[in-house]
Amino acid sequence: MEGWSRSVSRRRFLRGLGLAAAATLVPRRAPAAARKPISKPIPSTGERIPVIGLGTSRTFDAAPGAARSALAPVVQAFFDHGGTLIDSSPMYGSAEEVVGELLRVTRHGPVFSATKVWIDGKQAGVEQMERSRLLWGVPRFDLMQIHNLRDWRVHLETLKEWKSEGKVRYVGITTSHGRMHDELEVALERESFDFVQLSYNLEDREAERRLLPLAADRGVAVLVNRPFQLGGLFDKVRGKALPPWATELGIASWAQYFLKFAVSHPAVTCAIPATSKVKHMEDNMGAGHGRLPDAATRERMVRFVEAA
Ligand SMILES: NC(=O)c1ccc[n+]([C@@H]2O[C@H](COP(=O)([O-])OP(=O)(O)OC[C@H]3O[C@@H](n4cnc5c(N)ncnc54)[C@H](OP(=O)(O)O)[C@@H]3O)[C@@H](O)[C@H]2O)c1
Repeated sequence: MEGWSRSVSRRRFLRGLGLAAAATLVPRRAPAAARKPISKPIPSTGERIPVIGLGTSRTFDAAPGAARSALAPVVQAFFDHGGTLIDSSPMYGSAEEVVGELLRVTRHGPVFSATKVWIDGKQAGVEQMERSRLLWGVPRFDLMQIHNLRDWRVHLETLKEWKSEGKVRYVGITTSHGRMHDELEVALERESFDFVQLSYNLEDREAERRLLPLAADRGVAVLVNRPFQLGGLFDKVRGKALPPWATELGIASWAQYFLKFAVSHPAVTCAIPATSKVKHMEDNMGAGHGRLPDAATRERMVRFVEAA
């Protein structure tokens, strides 16, 4: 992805987008040298991506004006802490348009752009994916995923063609519903996907039974959605202190505890928490540093939260 084009007046451009406030909120100064975050390889190519990405459902469905401007420093914090993968969907209201605007007003290196196709029919799918590309302002998506398996056989044929023509780099399929797991299993067994996206967190560990082992076996990268169970995990531990042994893993908050649990599963490549707040973004990005828990510590993490 191209960086900020010097040929355009940044402030004039921001004003045109209704993001004038962002021009002052996002500092132009280069960020303090960010520590390199923990990354994992995409099995189909070996390309590495940081283990903490960014989701955009609900949090980025923002109307033009103050709500949208407030997201610019959130995304800038993501980039400043070494984040690259952003996940969106045409299902998330104005989120893709907002991502496109924020990519233009923030300072960043290469972005790993991931969105979804969520419509019935081949031609409608092609048109939706092209519209998403224009909204994001990218030459092509790094990852195009079939959202919630919708008309997946039809879109997969299009995406196989697009991948062979270089119009998309990776192809994936998503769900966040346990009831779709059987069909997702069929899709992963029969077809060659680069990525699967599913829900996995300390409370919802269903994917551990079959899907995560299958993804590992098939060489499919895993993106974890709902790593905080839509924020519900925080309610579970409200008022409870972190265990002292968590600090050995560099865990300084419950958000980091939950994210490190998700991304330390050997089959998981990256988690995509969503947030609308700079403070939460900085907290979440902290989970991409330090050590990841081993199998025994992961069990300990589960037991500690279950006893909460
Ligand atoms: N089928 C699919 O393909 C599918 C389904 C579901 C989700 N997804 C993707 O996965 C992404 C993540 O899932 P999700 O958004 O449903 O849920 P989530 O990431 O588990 O939870 C998001 C919630 O957690 C809060 N939060 C974030 N960081 C926090 C922190 N450090 N401390 C306290 N609260 C924090 C956010 O509120 P604040 O804004 O206050 O921080 C937000 O309400 C989505 O955005 C979307 O991109 C895909």
